Parts: sequence; structure tokens; C-alpha cells
Amino acid sequence: MQVLVIGSGGREHALVWKLAQSPRVKKIWCAPGNGGIARHAELVPIKAEDIEGLLKFSKDNKIDLVVVGPERPLALGIVDRFQAEGIKTFGPTRELARMESSKAFSKELMKKFKVPTAEFKIFKDSQQAKDYIRTKGTPIVIKADGLAFGKGVIVAKEKEEALGAVSNIMDFKLFGNSGDSLIIEECLEGEEASILVVSDGRDYVCLAPSQDHKRIYDDDKGPNTGGMGAYSPAPIVTDELFSRINEEIISPIIKGLADEGQFYRGVLYAGLMLTKEGPKVLEFNVRFGDPEAQAILPRLKTDLVDVIEASIDGNLGSFGALEWRQESCVCVVAASGGYPGDYKKGLEIRGLEEVDALRDVIVFHAGTRLEDGKIVTDGGRVLGITGLGEGIENAINKAYNAVSKVSFEGMYYRKDIGAKALALEHARIKV
Ligand code: AMP
Ligand code: GLY
Repeated sequence: MQVLVIGSGGREHALVWKLAQSPRVKKIWCAPGNGGIARHAELVPIKAEDIEGLLKFSKDNKIDLVVVGPERPLALGIVDRFQAEGIKTFGPTRELARMESSKAFSKELMKKFKVPTAEFKIFKDSQQAKDYIRTKGTPIVIKADGLAFGKGVIVAKEKEEALGAVSNIMDFKLFGNSGDSLIIEECLEGEEASILVVSDGRDYVCLAPSQDHKRIYDDDKGPNTGGMGAYSPAPIVTDELFSRINEEIISPIIKGLADEGQFYRGVLYAGLMLTKEGPKVLEFNVRFGDPEAQAILPRLKTDLVDVIEASIDGNLGSFGALEWRQESCVCVVAASGGYPGDYKKGLEIRGLEEVDALRDVIVFHAGTRLEDGKIVTDGGRVLGITGLGEGIENAINKAYNAVSKVSFEGMYYRKDIGAKALALEHARIKV
């Protein structure tokens, strides 16, 4: 079959890399793709949000299956539009993509289906929001309702910061219409974990648990980013906790929606805080995580095309559990100096050939492009340097050994990706 993957990040490279291993796939196209994806797929210069352009391309080229990486095309209704034209497209409808594109919608859904989440209140008026902050005190969390390129959440320790966040979102419209309403919620404490499942609307299969590293600096300090690294499996998610997450969070959402005649198809990603009282949802995303996909997909043995097709066709009930490699996988993000603020582009990346020759290492490209036969930087997160190994320690060593061979001017990466998992493994061995 001919497959079109939409997007241009590390997640999309991981998707293309995995799909290319399927014996069922004859050709992969990627729109718009990046410098690394060009090795496995033919790049198409159409933006991920250009739904009509993508549709015309898909029809002209007889695309059999469309896999959507990022949230924006899903929020714009790409699945509804393509399915109406008879093109199989993986992901939720526009209506259900609101679980990510409207935090208010998502919170109301959780309330309705009694899914544990932070206590919250929704505001449409900035003065009322500020008064509420004054009565509640800090720490407190302010969230723009709509999509905000991962920058719409402010975890405020001080009152002034919280009030400033409300002004930025509502009065100064920093995120445009995404700030027409906002959510103020209780600040939760604990460790975060990402639980992703693939659903067909009635049944679902679980992907392996993973953990992201959202903050820019080691020890989870500094501002939030799109994600600076990930690992899978996540030892903090024990089998017992995993069952609890399924019973209290994933199943009530998917079954609750189905009971109302709404069928969630695609990847459902629950971003969780593992609190003392149990797992609570921070947010839902309606797609694979980035960089979680880079740490999960290399471990997946099952053919991804089969899983995706079963999701679209409603056949996951008889699919059985997915199969996984036992090795751990660690993805370290190499970012442009200055990210998540301003950074330079167009800098040559060195050492990629040397890393290519290493075993158990995959370099997923994110912000890169090919220029005069050279790979140069083209975004904030540049590469996802990924190692697979027996146990987390080996995977960490494989990934960082590869990181040490790659360079570009100003390259920045966290030095502690996987450290928490390793500490937990060591503590368990001692017990
Ligand atoms: P979100 O986009 O809603 O996942 O938020 C981005 C990040 O902000 C999360 O990964 C957390 O690190 C943090 N965050 C969001 N909501 C809360 C909360 N209620 N309490 C503490 N931290 C939060
Ligand atoms: N890694 C966080 C996200 O994909 O939203």
C-alpha cells in the first residue's frame, strides 16, 4: 500500500521508520517531512495544516492510508474530510480531537466520566479569573483553553506570575483565540508518565508506558519545552498501577464516549501525574507523543500498519495485545542553543555518518533539512538520539555514547534522561 505520513518532527520520523518496516507498505510519502525522513520516504512540500492540498495530493497519488502526526490537522478535521472521500485516515474526528484542542472540553469530559484530574474552574472573563486566583493562592496552574504550541500552561508559584499569565492569555491574547477562555486548576505533585493507547472506538490496545522530560534543564528545572527526552518502559508504572490507570482513566473515557455514540479512533495519550492519591490526568492528547513515540516505536514488534488499520476498521477487539522487544529505549533530544526561546537555524550537523554505523542506535530527525547535500539544523528540537539496550542503564549508555559523536554549533541536551528510571531500578534491586 501507499502511505502518507503528515508532519515534520521526530515523532513523524519514528512513524515513517516503523511503517517502512512493514511488508505491506510499498511506498511512503511524508508531508512536509525533514532531512532525516527523506531517507525512508519521498517528501511532499505541503504543510500539515493544508488539508485541501493534502487531499488533492492523496487522491492524485492513490494514497491508501494516511497517518497524521501532529494535533493541528486533527483539530482542523482532517479525518472527517478524508474519510468522507474514502481515504483511510488514522486519528479522531474533529469533534473528539477537541479533547486536545479545548482543555475546557477535555476537563468537562473527565468530570462527566468521573476520571481523576486536578480540580478546576473555567473562565471567560479575566477579572473573574484574577479574583479567583486571589482567593485560591499559589501554587496554581493557568491553562489557555486552546492549542498554544505547548506554551499555554503556566505552573505559577507566585501570585504575580499567575495574574500575569491571565493577562497574557486573555487581555493580551498571546495565543490568539486559544485564550478566549482559560482553565485555572489545582497544582498537582508527583512524577509524570505518558500512557498511550490505540482505540477503535469500542476497544483499545495499550502502548508501552513511557516518561517524557518536559523541562529544559537537568533535574526538571527551567521552562517547559515540547519534551527533551523520553524512555520506555517506565519502571514507575508497575503492572498494578497500569491496571489502575486502565480501570480509572482510559476505559471510562473510551467506553463512556462509546455509550454516547461517540467513537474515539486513533491514539489517545493520557499525560498523568502520579500523585499520592493515585494517577490523575493532566491532559489528553489525540496523537502520539513527541518524543515518546521515539522511545516507544523502536520497541514495538507488531506491524504498525495492522494496528492502525484495525483502529480505523473497528477490529481491535480481536487484535490481541501488542508485542514488545524486552530492551529499554532511551531518546535524548539534541536541541538548538537558546531553545525553547530564540535560536539559530541552518547550522551544519556533524557526526551523523559515524553514529549510523553504531548498533542499537537510531537518530530520529526533528528540526533538520537537507541543504547542498548536508544536513543542517532547522528547528528548536533538532535530533532524537535513541539507544536500545538490555535494561535502562545500557540504553542510557548507548544513547549518550551516540550523542557524544554528534555536534552542531550551540547543541544543547539534557544529561539526565533516564536517570530517574535508573535510580528506581537500583532502589528496587536493593529492596
Ligand atoms: P499540559 O499541556 O496540560 O500537559 O501541561 C504541560 C505541563 O504542565 C505538564 O506536563 C506538567 O508538567 C505541567 N502541569 C499541567 N497541569 C498541571 C497541574 N495541574 N499541576 C502541576 N503541573 C501541571
Ligand atoms: N511529549 C509531550 C507531547 O507530545 O505533547
